[in-house]
Amino acid sequence: MSDSPAIRFSVSPGGRLGGRIRVPGDKSISHRAVMLGAIAQGDTDITGFLEGEDTLATLAAFRAMGVRAEGPSQGRLVIHGVGREGLSAPVEPLYLGNSGTSMRLLAGLMAGQSFDVELTGDASLSLRPMRRVTRPLAEMGADLQASEDGTPPLRIRAGTGLRGIDYDMPVASAQVKSCLLLPGLYAEGRTCVSEPASTRDHTERMLQGFGYTLLREQNRVCLEGGGSLTGTAIDVPADISSAAFFMVGAAIAEGSDVLLEHVGINPTRTGIIEILRLMGADLSVIDERRVGGEPVADIRIRSAELSGIRIPEHLVPLAIDEFPAVFVAAASAHGETVLTGAAELRVKESDRIQVMTDGLSALGIDARPTADGMIVRGGVIRGGEVDSHGDHRVAMAFAMAGLRARDSIHIGDCANVNTSFPDFAALARESGLDILVEPRPHD
Ligand code: S3P
Repeated sequence: MSDSPAIRFSVSPGGRLGGRIRVPGDKSISHRAVMLGAIAQGDTDITGFLEGEDTLATLAAFRAMGVRAEGPSQGRLVIHGVGREGLSAPVEPLYLGNSGTSMRLLAGLMAGQSFDVELTGDASLSLRPMRRVTRPLAEMGADLQASEDGTPPLRIRAGTGLRGIDYDMPVASAQVKSCLLLPGLYAEGRTCVSEPASTRDHTERMLQGFGYTLLREQNRVCLEGGGSLTGTAIDVPADISSAAFFMVGAAIAEGSDVLLEHVGINPTRTGIIEILRLMGADLSVIDERRVGGEPVADIRIRSAELSGIRIPEHLVPLAIDEFPAVFVAAASAHGETVLTGAAELRVKESDRIQVMTDGLSALGIDARPTADGMIVRGGVIRGGEVDSHGDHRVAMAFAMAGLRARDSIHIGDCANVNTSFPDFAALARESGLDILVEPRPHD
């Protein structure tokens, strides 16, 4: 559960989006900046840090392991690195809230430490699959245990003699890849990870930014254990996964014209741009530039008639967090949109295939779940009640559906929007969405 009180969103129908919008910092990059900054030598000066519950959970975990940090305040956070052997044993289990990224990346990093630690999370995180990380970590010689069904809490014993492995990931997961590269820093020999499809490569880019040598070839990355990291400056771009809600909102609401500023456009994250373009969106990527090791641009998007498409499977990992928003675009498009090859959506913060199908159906859209995707026929979005099941991205996607709805949409269980996008409702309101945040006992 989120630490915030229970809330629901009520969105009045219609409206359009406009203006210049800067959404908060990238969640994936913010997590990694704290983790690598903590085990680096010297200071890491972060700007644009996402002050959301997930990344704050990561920061709290490192503070509990003796890392000093100033901030965050208005996105500025300075981490005083303790060096690769400098973390100390936390007094209590590390509570990681709703954050799968914290849990999986920390599982790997903790496997290389000289103390025992336990990682716990909220009700949703406690249901998420961890065998995908515990198995390869055990192959590296880590001593760790999940609960019987392979879910958190994770108990990790002091690492003794990790060894590098050459691992072929069965699922395309940046969390698994990163979870193995981090203990690879502590392992003897070389750790290599091959992925079946490209996944976000922020860990690789950032390790290089901290002065660590990596070997990268096609779908494989390798590193040698034993090196050290040097603190650096990190400018975190705006999160394309948060920008995606405004892209979809502007695309579907007639008369919209939005400029999203300073958005990270790492090619392993731009599936949403490609999918919206295939659907006929009027979207331009402006003033591409490089900030630190990451490409950044402004994105302008204006409303357009969208058409249903068959989503190319190679785009799935490149848009893995954007499907709640994509389904809302599909509900507003002419014809049918078919998604396949996306079974991973069933094990995100909620079962996003089921939860989005249920919500779209409640709003009068013909949406059918499949084992690994969904078939959505565009149509009239009525109003109604939907349940986000505590999933931040589901809540924000349905809020944007209000722009095309006939009646109000009430979305329950929205407090977890604070995990990735604390100011979402205020920013959406300023941009033209008629959204109210209402306190609610428990949905
Ligand atoms: C993330 C990777 C993705 C994504 C998650 C953040 C990361 O998960 O869904 O929100 O920061 O590495 P998978 O790599 O497991 O698909």
